[in-house]
Amino acid sequence: MTVIGLGPMGVALAEAFLAQGHPTTVWNRTPKKGDGLVAKGARRVDTISEAVSASKFVVVCLKDYDAMYAVLDPADEALSGRVLVNHSSGIPEQARNAAIWAAHKGVDYLDGAIMVPPQAVGHPDSVFLYSGPQSLFEAHEKTLLSMGGTRYLGTDPSLAVLYNTALLSLMYSSLQGFLHAAALVGSANVRVTTFAEIAIGWFLPSVVNPYLLMEAPDIDKGNYPGDRGNMVMNMTALDHIFHTSKEQGISSDLPEQLKKLAENAISAGYGDRNFMAVIELLKNPSKES
Ligand SMILES: NC(=O)c1ccc[n+]([C@@H]2O[C@H](COP(=O)([O-])OP(=O)(O)OC[C@H]3O[C@@H](n4cnc5c(N)ncnc54)[C@H](OP(=O)(O)O)[C@@H]3O)[C@@H](O)[C@H]2O)c1
Repeated sequence: MTVIGLGPMGVALAEAFLAQGHPTTVWNRTPKKGDGLVAKGARRVDTISEAVSASKFVVVCLKDYDAMYAVLDPADEALSGRVLVNHSSGIPEQARNAAIWAAHKGVDYLDGAIMVPPQAVGHPDSVFLYSGPQSLFEAHEKTLLSMGGTRYLGTDPSLAVLYNTALLSLMYSSLQGFLHAAALVGSANVRVTTFAEIAIGWFLPSVVNPYLLMEAPDIDKGNYPGDRGNMVMNMTALDHIFHTSKEQGISSDLPEQLKKLAENAISAGYGDRNFMAVIELLKNPSKES
């Protein structure tokens, strides 16, 4: 294997290959970051052409797609005939362009996204997402499994980046929700650890299971029955969260944004539907009043 890019994640990927007994060549713009890997048996080379030529299977883990081109373009002809798995972060258009770039270079290209921190790399239950040619994924899945659990998403090369962005958006907005809630009870001097005990125990059975798991098939069908709670009821709850935030002197930005979303959904005719109907406005912002 060759691993290009030895930030915290690239080091973890190379360590996973070494731990599974794969001869591993490494390269990084700043060579010193490979010292620990060399001590564990990796072969460090001086040039990117040597790194690419050393293995059929080349893993790239750099800051972004621009860094990937800056690093790989000088390798030029050495790239032809390699299998390149790119885990650098980016946006869907960059992933599609990278697949075109790879085809011009004669490279078999898979785009990947790593959904775990470096310390979880190498564990079978970690989540690595891949998109690109299915036959290429299947031919190399055993090698990919050295890094962590694999999920193949489809032939469109941008799918891994798109899923990655969607999942990170879920993470950041969930964290924002938790932090707003912690600030709300914090206004009465409740410690975050005290609140977290109740919040986390409540979140899975009362929010994730009934809403995210049970409602997903209905959301796919555009079916939002409001018989167990409709948008107007939710709008009232959001109004209370908004006013409580103000009364307690903490930021009301998040509940104000959610309240506005529910108001817009009511204006768009979803007043008797359940809260999940706001996805119609998120998918098509022109429906907002
Ligand atoms: N760390 C995590 O928890 C985590 C989790 C999931 C996914 N990822 C993804 O994994 C990728 C790597 O992340 P990371 O945490 O290892 O560190 P990072 O800071 O995102 O990337 C560091 C790597 O990029 C190289 N680099 C940056 N700009 C460059 C340039 N212009 N030319 C050449 N090389 C350049 C660095 O080289 P130098 O060492 O020479 O600076 C180093 O090898 C990222 O796309 C990140 O989104 C990271």
